[in-house]
Amino acid sequence: MKNKKLTFLILTVLLLSIIPLQAFSTSSEWLRPNGVPQPKDNRLTLQRVELGKLLFFDKRLSKSEEISCASCHNPELGWSDAEPKAIGHEGKVGPRNSPTILNTAYQTHQFWDGRVETLEEQALGPIEADVEMNMPLKELIPKLRKIQGYKILFDKAYPGLGITKDTLAKAIASFERTIVSTEAPFDRYIKGNKKAISKNAQDGFELFKDKGRCTDCHSGYNFSDGSFHNLGLKDGDKGRIEVRKGIEKATGAFKTPTLRDITKSGPYFHDGSVKTIHEATAICGNGGRFSDAKGLSLFMIDRDLTIDDIEKIVTFLRTLEGEPMKLKIPTKFPQ
Ligand code: HEC
Ligand code: HEC
Repeated sequence: MKNKKLTFLILTVLLLSIIPLQAFSTSSEWLRPNGVPQPKDNRLTLQRVELGKLLFFDKRLSKSEEISCASCHNPELGWSDAEPKAIGHEGKVGPRNSPTILNTAYQTHQFWDGRVETLEEQALGPIEADVEMNMPLKELIPKLRKIQGYKILFDKAYPGLGITKDTLAKAIASFERTIVSTEAPFDRYIKGNKKAISKNAQDGFELFKDKGRCTDCHSGYNFSDGSFHNLGLKDGDKGRIEVRKGIEKATGAFKTPTLRDITKSGPYFHDGSVKTIHEATAICGNGGRFSDAKGLSLFMIDRDLTIDDIEKIVTFLRTLEGEPMKLKIPTKFPQ
């Protein structure tokens, strides 16, 4: 008898301790991580961020002096450019869509095919690319060294290191680490304010997790698993396999993009072929664009989403839009 009572007591205590833990762990998955990851040799400082910001908006970093990073990653266009494919030096159209650079700080791989890992490695690529800024670094570095204002700012940000490829990349990366999403209605909802989003949006979030299985790939605070998947677009772009040669399932696979501020950064997908969030949701939720595509992700299963389901999911996705980030866009540049 005593034993039975004891077992009952232990079971009750166990149950009580498990339930709140589970409730906590399901919502904590969506909470903002504490701080952004920073490499040991490039800690964030005010001087580095301010310098990086100037470089990001400075058109003198391009050959034509007409293009800056912000031409394709424009804060007013969701840090993208509203074009299907990027338009760079002398109007050349690049092979892919300009992704938002929001929350790249949280990403373990950069670019649609994840060909580099850190923001430092990423930063110099677009400057030299002939379809982007077309500016050889061996020309750019001496050019920057002649600008007295930059000399002073680099010295403050990276004392004694001067203006080099390395410090240039580090400064730009530092600024990018500050481009993170602001609090959105969804975040207030997750933190417990059940009125922060509408009933339809709440239903949409449930559909996003359950019937739609969007969370198979769009998971966590940044709504990305950081992995690569083939959605059957059949646009001829080989994607991730160019980086992971010989790995069959990397064929036509692209990085799961963030869904934060998704309202601002269209058109969508790596080829810019999708104009609306509805269309993106329908492709992702109903088995990919072409179900017979070679290498189609195993997660691309027709989830039978109805028009009403899609509408609700889109209503939910709209609640991921945060307040505009406080940012003073530089108008004067170092001379
Ligand atoms: C001509 C347009 C253009 C310019 C200029 C440009 N980018 Fe990009 N950016 C792109 C495109 C297109 C991609 C995707 C390329 C790919 O995945 O192959 C990209 C990708 C990125 C990414 C990776 C984002 C992600 O989620 O993977 C970052 C970060 C980035 N650019 C930062 C910069 C910086 C910093 C500069 C300036 C030094 C810059 N870009 C200049 C078009 C541009
Ligand atoms: C198999 C993994 C996977 C699943 C499941 C998935 N997605 Fe995606 N999603 C991706 C990938 C990968 C891309 C980018 C594909 C590309 O460009 O080739 C993407 C793109 C998107 C985009 C466009 C983002 C942009 O910036 O271009 C939206 C919106 C989207 N997904 C919403 C959803 C919704 C809603 C669901 C559930 C109904 C869902 N996804 C299910 C992997 C997935």
